Amino acid sequence: MNTFYIIGTGPGDPELITVKALRTMEKCATLVAPKAKVNGDSTALGIVKGLMNLESKRVLEVCFPMHKVLNGKSTQEVEAAWQEAARLILHHLKDGDVAFPTLGDPAVYSTGFYVYATLKEMAPEMEIKIIPGITAMSCCSATGNQPLCLGGEVLSVVPATFDDMRLRQIITSCDSVVLMKVHNVVPRLITLLDELNLIDKAVCYEQCGMVGEKVHPDLRQLVGRNLHYFSTIIIRK
Ligand SMILES: C[S@@+](CC[C@H](N)C(=O)[O-])C[C@H]1O[C@@H](n2cnc3c(N)ncnc32)[C@H](O)[C@@H]1O
Repeated sequence: MNTFYIIGTGPGDPELITVKALRTMEKCATLVAPKAKVNGDSTALGIVKGLMNLESKRVLEVCFPMHKVLNGKSTQEVEAAWQEAARLILHHLKDGDVAFPTLGDPAVYSTGFYVYATLKEMAPEMEIKIIPGITAMSCCSATGNQPLCLGGEVLSVVPATFDDMRLRQIITSCDSVVLMKVHNVVPRLITLLDELNLIDKAVCYEQCGMVGEKVHPDLRQLVGRNLHYFSTIIIRK
């Protein structure tokens, strides 16, 4: 029986993909790369493209709508799109191993484990292997020369879209906080961090390890600016 591999490609810098990720994709007959928008490109595939010869492979870009958060679409429609994508993967598994490259690490806010769950529901006996990748937060912390947690410190990783009450509770009770998906909520975060007297302890990393990489040590400068979706804030007290 052929194997389905969910593969972390790292955060964007092509040199931050693992040898194991590349070797695994090289032996796969098909690559199914996720993208969030029908007309968009797959970021994970973009990383892989420059690193290996894809000519002999079947390469498919498939739209995996964000689970349960797709604007204007019912959960049922989202589920249907996922099941269709899973059926496509099962179909191509007949011809050989299939790789699913996904940005960063599959275990951190990734489409990868939704694909895993959908496939396991449809074909419980199938073999699925996960190849870990370097997370965006690891890349951001390395770029900023700051650790995420040391000794007895507590680190939290949270979507910045949580409401203020929940964010305040997490930020005040942890030593370091990684805020993901910050791009649409920066003004609200600035107000909250100012109130908590932590604005100077926060750094925003935009497209870390990618061509457009920017580091924003002063969050106040971000007011009125459009941030890329690939932006993460690290608060370290
Ligand atoms: C769907 S999650 C994917 C996380 C990924 N699986 C990981 O391991 O880091 C998308 C969020 O990850 C963060 N992100 C991903 N790539 C990034 C990058 N190159 N620079 C900064 N943040 C990034 C952003 O917060 C973005 O909103």
